[in-house]
Amino acid sequence: MRVHRLEQITPQVRLIELRDPDGGMLPPAEPGAHIDLHLPDGAVRSYSLCGDPADRHAYHIAVLKVPGGRGSGFVHGDLEPGSDLTISPPRNNFRFDDAPRSLFIAGGIGITPLLPMIRRAAERGADWVLHYCVRSASAAPFLDDLRALPHGRVELHAADEGRRLAVDALLASTPADVPIYCCGPQRLMEAVAAAADPAQDVRFEWFAPRTEPAREPASDDSFEVVCARSGVTVTVPAGTSILDALYAAGVEADSSCEQGICGTCETTVLEGEPEHRDSVLSDTERAAGKTMMLCVSRARSARLVLDI
Ligand code: FES
Repeated sequence: MRVHRLEQITPQVRLIELRDPDGGMLPPAEPGAHIDLHLPDGAVRSYSLCGDPADRHAYHIAVLKVPGGRGSGFVHGDLEPGSDLTISPPRNNFRFDDAPRSLFIAGGIGITPLLPMIRRAAERGADWVLHYCVRSASAAPFLDDLRALPHGRVELHAADEGRRLAVDALLASTPADVPIYCCGPQRLMEAVAAAADPAQDVRFEWFAPRTEPAREPASDDSFEVVCARSGVTVTVPAGTSILDALYAAGVEADSSCEQGICGTCETTVLEGEPEHRDSVLSDTERAAGKTMMLCVSRARSARLVLDI
């Protein structure tokens, strides 16, 4: 994939447009999807696609300048138009469903996965409201684009103007049939998760592992994993991930972030009870126990049978 355009859209955020060097069509990406960017030093970073999902010839990502950040250091340093990059196909853990009304809550660069969703809602004539928390209006990526979209409104909460979002009051006044989409700093997302009623449909995109107490690991015992497709059985010792145990046994498995946040290693569970430690699955999906992330999750049962 080639960098076609680089644009500084705020003092701290760079927009990158990626295209196939031969002008080919790109795999489709639904609103909320992200790609993994493979950095020259071997690290992998996930970025939400913030462009128009209907544009099959370009992907757009926006990257915040973060002191010491490897992905951000690369994008804000060495990258230039014409650079070739390795990326993964789009993956979506943050599904947007059409609804007559939707509520969006963004913190800073967390606007990126929400922008295509809001565009989709606006295109379809659905009501939408965005609560956009930023340090200042000048540091809010895509603010003018968002304000120009029909059928909804942007409530800007700029810290330098003393306007803070009252999360509890907002969630309490949102009917249960209005889906809520949230992405931003960990603190904001944890506050929204804590304020939500269990009947509310709240969806998050996590770009760092969740740390709330309810998701702390319960145990670190060893257990057995049977790989149904490859016919290999491995013991996963304490302190080793399923993914690492599989790799050591020569079993092929996809992975990317290895922190339980990207969803690349999601695998179907055929038997046994997983102990979920990821930040991808919803509470309902966790309870169903049909899939698990091999990079961080473990087992409550002595044995798991996986479709791998
Ligand atoms: Fe990203 Fe497992 S590799 S969730």
